[in-house]
Amino acid sequence: MERIVYVNGEYVQESDAKISVFDRGFLFADGVYEVTSVLEGKLIDFDGHLRRLRRSLVELAMTIPCPDEELLSIHRELVARNAVVEGLVYLQVTRGAADRDFAFPKNVPQTLVLFTQAKSIVDSPLAKRGARVVSVDDLRWGRRDIKTVQLLYPSMAKMIAQEKGADDAWLVQDGLVTEGTSNNAYIVTQDGTIVTRDLSSDILAGITRAAVLKCARELQMKVEERPFSIAEALTAREAFTTSATGFVCPVVEIDGTALSDGNPGAVAVRLRQAYIEESLKAAI
Ligand code: PDD
Repeated sequence: MERIVYVNGEYVQESDAKISVFDRGFLFADGVYEVTSVLEGKLIDFDGHLRRLRRSLVELAMTIPCPDEELLSIHRELVARNAVVEGLVYLQVTRGAADRDFAFPKNVPQTLVLFTQAKSIVDSPLAKRGARVVSVDDLRWGRRDIKTVQLLYPSMAKMIAQEKGADDAWLVQDGLVTEGTSNNAYIVTQDGTIVTRDLSSDILAGITRAAVLKCARELQMKVEERPFSIAEALTAREAFTTSATGFVCPVVEIDGTALSDGNPGAVAVRLRQAYIEESLKAAI
């Protein structure tokens, strides 16, 4: 069945939706995006996603497309019109359509597009089985803290992983893991400490990361925000990733070596459950 999508102020059937061939999102990947998950028909951590969207826009000298309340009502309207119970809302803002020129155009209206995707996140087979990851060189640009639509390298890394029979890649820079192709990466050391890379322009500040670290601290788990290598990860008790599309997803194999006997680790399973409970309580 066709979805209803939102394009620049209008709700239209997906096959009727149009943007210009001169859109800078299309020509220059000149745009930013957010993905907000939906559980029981409600938005998870919407304020966090909006805060990060605003930051991404400011970093690229773009303006906020419309007031927060309007963005919230567009999200809700799309969830309702498409009867999404579980899944996500994707939002993209680009610098708009202008004659092709590397310099940013002036006084051009931005493009705002949103659509929904129905998806089982809580009962995900991957989360039950645990993901296999392989390490791949991190060859992305240097501003990964901005959530741009420039996703070609993460797509390539994911394909490299799939060709090796794995589910995803962990990206490595100067011998240290930055993050997954579309998630933040964690290990749990033998003494039970959760380790994840500290925030900088090397990684995206995951909204799920912030919520999961808060859950971990509330559960009296020890957290260290610092880089780790693949060699250290291979000595870990367990590993996992976080993202809006996967919540907490156990990692059971890194570069062909099994962790936690090849089964989802206890910390990941506990945090997944805690995150789902907490985020549902705060869902809007
Ligand atoms: N990706 N790191 C990268 C590179 C990401 O693309 C994402 C999210 C994350 C996790 O961020 P969050 O917890 O806010 O989802 C970390 C989204 C889900 C995507 O591109 O589909």
